[in-house]
Amino acid sequence: MVETLPISEIWLTCQIPARDQRRGRYVPQTSSHPAKMLPHLAAHAISSYTTPGELVFDPMCGAGTTLVEAMHLGRQGIGVDIEPRYSALAEANVALASSQRVTGTGQVFTGDATGLLDLVPASAVGRVGLVLTSPPYGRGTHGLVRTTSTGLRKRDHQYGDRERGNLAYVGWSRLFDGFASILAASYHLLRPGGTVVITCRTVRRERDDLIDLPGELLAVAQSVGLVPVQRTAAMLAAVRDDGQIVHRANMFGLRAVRRARDEGIPVHLLVHEDVLILRRC
Ligand SMILES: C[S@@+](CC[C@H](N)C(=O)[O-])C[C@H]1O[C@@H](n2cnc3c(N)ncnc32)[C@H](O)[C@@H]1O
Repeated sequence: MVETLPISEIWLTCQIPARDQRRGRYVPQTSSHPAKMLPHLAAHAISSYTTPGELVFDPMCGAGTTLVEAMHLGRQGIGVDIEPRYSALAEANVALASSQRVTGTGQVFTGDATGLLDLVPASAVGRVGLVLTSPPYGRGTHGLVRTTSTGLRKRDHQYGDRERGNLAYVGWSRLFDGFASILAASYHLLRPGGTVVITCRTVRRERDDLIDLPGELLAVAQSVGLVPVQRTAAMLAAVRDDGQIVHRANMFGLRAVRRARDEGIPVHLLVHEDVLILRRC
């Protein structure tokens, strides 16, 4: 049975725009990854659930946000990504962090995280304090918008290569099965009492078909023995002192909402991401 967890606090993770959160801390090519985690979200999770020196692991590390933020907080980051171009990007970001005299370390491995126990050092087994990750959900993602002479163009909104095992290209049931395998393997890396933080959003397949991805992923995590602790929301928008919400959506996001509303579908702009927090007992 899927447990319902109360939303008990909101993480203010987008008080400044994502671009400014990354400036000087990530290499410019980082914009080429279509679905990055907000650095302030990663930093909040890492400082909340680990202590300096601990291991932090991301089995689908993309551009390496989890690793870079772990390094800046004096933790040891380890990441895996199936796409060589993203693991190379993560390595470049780890190298940049190292050059900034951080006290933590970062290691990146390329491969399918369902087999992560053959990829990461055996010394990590049973020693990871936090698994922080966000699965891919569909080929289309946030991306960037560029103005051209012929109008607005979207770029870097799609994953690249179709490596076998890449969960960005599979249907829902294969995504959930693959994610279950990855979490089950990650479980072995966790120390007893270690935490898993998963970030995800509800997604719309067709305009009027809303998929409760957070609820599905919570069920997947429970199926591998992880115990739910808390469910919260991380803001994708700023919240001002007077409570006003300042969205950070791009033109395409705004346009999609307007179009849906014009068609009578009561869509709202997404201004938060769900955060699922679970523990290994
Ligand atoms: C939502 S993105 C993660 C973004 C990352 N948190 C960041 O801040 O850049 C999901 C990542 O999962 C990777 N991926 C998909 N299937 C995978 C698999 N089987 N093993 C490892 N990585 C996988 C994709 O290449 C993609 O980079």
